Order: sequence, then structure tokens, then C-alpha cells
Amino acid sequence: MPGSRQPVPGSRQGQSQGRSLPSAGSIAASALLPLRLFAGFTFLYAGIDKIALDPTFLDLTSRTSILAQLQGYAHASPLAPLITAVAIPNAWLMGVLIALAEIAVGLGVLSGIAFRAAAWGGAGLSLLFFLTASWSVHPYYYGQDLPYGLGFVTLAIAGHGDLYVLGPWLDRQFFTVPRGRHAPAPAPVSAERRHLLHAGVLGLSAIVLAVVARPLHALLMPSSGAGLSSAGTAGTGASAQTGTGSSSASSGPAASSAAAAGGSNPLAIATTAAVVQAGAYGFQVPTAIGNAAPGDPGVVVSLGSGKFAAFDAVCTHAGCTVGFDPQAVMLVCPCHGAEFDPRNNGQPVAGPTNVPLTALPLSIQGGEITLRA
Ligand code: FES
Repeated sequence: MPGSRQPVPGSRQGQSQGRSLPSAGSIAASALLPLRLFAGFTFLYAGIDKIALDPTFLDLTSRTSILAQLQGYAHASPLAPLITAVAIPNAWLMGVLIALAEIAVGLGVLSGIAFRAAAWGGAGLSLLFFLTASWSVHPYYYGQDLPYGLGFVTLAIAGHGDLYVLGPWLDRQFFTVPRGRHAPAPAPVSAERRHLLHAGVLGLSAIVLAVVARPLHALLMPSSGAGLSSAGTAGTGASAQTGTGSSSASSGPAASSAAAAGGSNPLAIATTAAVVQAGAYGFQVPTAIGNAAPGDPGVVVSLGSGKFAAFDAVCTHAGCTVGFDPQAVMLVCPCHGAEFDPRNNGQPVAGPTNVPLTALPLSIQGGEITLRA
């Protein structure tokens, strides 16, 4: 319409449509910056970790792979029928899609490109993780996915407030603004076109980053190999876990740190007296034993009546290190609440896995507990 005012690409008016915090009665965009940075970086790292840094996540033969995790979720999640029918038969693809989605969410929230779509995507992923990875965590507030989800909902509602955003720069690259006094007025760019462009750039960036992450990591950190295991940490996102791990309060005192008793024998892990006194004793697995890898954290537990049991302490859900709860006499994972019974060969009794801990055969002689390799 002649005389009507149209938003110009790259102009303040054009930039802020639908993406700004309202100015009246609202908090400053800068107040949400810490949340935006934390949530964005965490999801970005979680996606890259799954696809490039953790060699076990997409290795379907690994007991901490996406397949093993999905099989664990299928026992307790309200989405069990869907997991069994769709996700498990396509576990590798699901793992890749989850990682890509996390990378896109992280990039979008950090850069401000397709910000609201990315934030709602983060909220949706967090809900998915809550219904699967965190569903068996009790009480619910030990799970990390609900807080992430609510954080993303907050960002999606508030918007980025035009603070540190790349959208206007992107618009200037793709939608040319005529320069000069006598230049014709630029044709209006529809919001749909801009949103489409932003979503396309975001998706493409996520794919490119996923493709180059592993070779880049190998190039920059050759000593760590192509993959750096994230075992022992509560990886982010439903290991998919986005989460950084929940409180370990429910697991009680962790097993004591390693202190083998055996002098020069690397397979001697503790004295019986020390384990009885502490309830459980931590050590480092000295050599490959069954599924246990050298360097894995191990734990030997006193079962009473002079009996002991030793296990690889790597949780079979997503690789966190289990701790010992002396009250319940259980090995408990602080990340998503898996519990393993040391009196029953490390069988899981709760949580998102149905795979037992790796039991380590041992022998006892002269008050010394020794692993049998
Ligand atoms: S890593 Fe998830 S329950 Fe242990």
C-alpha cells in the first residue's frame, strides 16, 4: 500500500519482529543471558559428544551405546511401545538424530538464529529425555531433564531480546538492501522467508559441525585418538543424557578411593579388613577382565559373613560411576538412579538399564582380596 511502512531487512524494526522481549513489564534480555549461554553450550556439547567424542554411543555393540540405553528405557518408560517398535530397530539413526537435534538447539540458542524454534526444540528434547532417561529417577527432582526443559520454555517465551544475535547479519547476506540516497525502497521480505532461511542455515550448520567434529577433534587432540570416552561422567543429554547428572545424595557415601593392599601384585585390590570397615572399596581395574577395561573404576563390596563381591563400577546405562549405599547395600548410579544388587551378581533392580554390572572374579588369601584375570 502506498505510503505504508514496511520493515527493512537488517533494520531494527525488521530484526525484532517476534523475537524480542517486550520492553514493558519484562525483565532485561541480559538477565536471561546466563541461562541462554548455559543451556545452549550444554546442548551443543552434548550433541558433539555423542557424535564425535564418545566412541561408544553409536557403537551398537557397546553396553553404553544408544541401543543399550533404549533397551533399558523400554522397561519403564511410558513411551515403551514406541521405543520398542520404532526406536530400538533404528537405534543408530535415533542416536544420530538426537545428536544433530542437540547441536541445532545449542547453535540456535547461542547464535539467536531461529532462536524460538531452537528453544522449543530444546524443551521438546528435554521432555523426551524426561520420559525416557529420567523416568525412573526418584524422587523426580534428582533428574536433570525437567529443569533443562523449563529453562528452554523460559527462553522460548522470552525470546532473545535482540541481544547478541546473528539473524540480522544473515539477513544482510541473503536479502540485499539497496544503498544510496536514490536507491529504490527494498522489497519487503516476508517473515516466512526469513524464518525458512534461518531454519535452513541452522540445520545445515548442525550437519556440517557434526561431520567435521570427529576429524577436527582427532586433528587437534591426536593423543586422545579419534574418540574420547565420556565414561565416568554424566554426559549431557539422554546420553543421550543431556543432563549433567543429578545429585548423588540418594546413593549415599561413595565407595572409598582406590587403595590396593597388594604391594607389587597389580591384581591385589584391598585387604578384607579394609573393605569390611568401609563397606566398599574403590580401585582401578588393572587389566581387561570380561567386559571390564583396564583403567575402569572398580568397586569391591563386603556382603557380610566374610563374603565379598567385586564389580566394574561403570554404570551400564550411560557410563557414570556407581557408588555404594551402605544402608540399602546397593550400588547406585548418581546420574539417573540405576541401582544394582551386589548380592545378586550386580543385577539391576531399578533405573533405566537392564544390564548388570560386570562382575569381577576374585579370590581371598591371607586377608588379601585379589582379582582373577
Ligand atoms: S548413567 Fe544413567 S543410570 Fe547410570
